[in-house]
Amino acid sequence: MELDETKYIFFSGKGGVGKTSMASTTAVYYADQGLDTILVTTDPAANLSDVFQQEIGHRVTEIEGVGNLFAMEIDSKEATEEYKEQTLAPMREIFNDEMLQVIEEQLNSPCTEEMASFDRFVDFMAEDQYDVVVFDTAPTGHTIRLLELPVDWSKHIEESAQGSGQTCMGPVQNIQDSKEKYDQAIELLKDDTRTEFIFVMHPEGSAIRETKRSSNELEEIGINTSSIIVNGILPEEECQNPFFKKRGEMQQKYLAQIEEEIDLPTKKMYLLDQEIKGTEILREVAQDLYKEEI
Ligand SMILES: Nc1ncnc2c1ncn2[C@@H]1O[C@H](COP(=O)(O)OP(=O)(O)OP(=O)(O)O)[C@@H](O)[C@H]1O
Ligand SMILES: [Mg+2]
Repeated sequence: MELDETKYIFFSGKGGVGKTSMASTTAVYYADQGLDTILVTTDPAANLSDVFQQEIGHRVTEIEGVGNLFAMEIDSKEATEEYKEQTLAPMREIFNDEMLQVIEEQLNSPCTEEMASFDRFVDFMAEDQYDVVVFDTAPTGHTIRLLELPVDWSKHIEESAQGSGQTCMGPVQNIQDSKEKYDQAIELLKDDTRTEFIFVMHPEGSAIRETKRSSNELEEIGINTSSIIVNGILPEEECQNPFFKKRGEMQQKYLAQIEEEIDLPTKKMYLLDQEIKGTEILREVAQDLYKEEI
């Protein structure tokens, strides 16, 4: 497989539905196709280390046993320190201590922290070092917020430029470059030839409503949902006893409803008898998830 331009793939969905598992599976799949792939998590409660059974953390880490695959867990505290340093370093030569202290105090705000993780995330959207960048995100609400941020920040920078000239990210003139970077990220997020947005859900009534709602919210900011993965389906041969038979029938009913009401390409993933952990299982799941493509 070959790609001309970097492709960005986002996984979103409610808590615990399998976002991290499907994002990891997808990253392994593309890396095994020979594409340079990085899996980035923006979830503050990240567990990629758990899935790949190796230490990952806030740095780009080579995944053992899968060629071409890298991963990173964005840590908001570390991202904040990096961001502050990056902002203050060029000012140290120009401003006196008093001024620097004022700026530093301004940077000690929740807004900076939010900004910093986000800035790290946008950096990956500006990367062309990889063929594929897979984003494992936090449960739905948080993701939409994260994706709305570039729009918010661009506006914030513009307004501050006309007003006080100060932002929680430092003086406006220092962040004009960032605005360009954010504008570019917004363009990429909206370009469905470059960015895929995949919702993971269970075959349940509430999940159908939630997926529709989130997908609409994304549409409002100009982002199209590209496909869905219905995860945790009970294999038919396991639905022999009355309890599982009933649950199986319930799932089939919702699967039919999904097909009818959600007009998007849909992949099905069955419930396994074990967790999705370790490269061997991830490869097996990838073969199943991407069987049409293989
Ligand atoms: N098809 C499946 N079969 C068996 N176990 C699964 C399947 N999909 C996910 N799991 C397991 O379910 C648990 C939750 O999955 P995962 O961590 O991928 O969800 P998540 O949506 O990322 O959760 P969170 O919202 O907490 O980040 C994990 O232990 C994972 O291994
Ligand atoms: Mg997760």
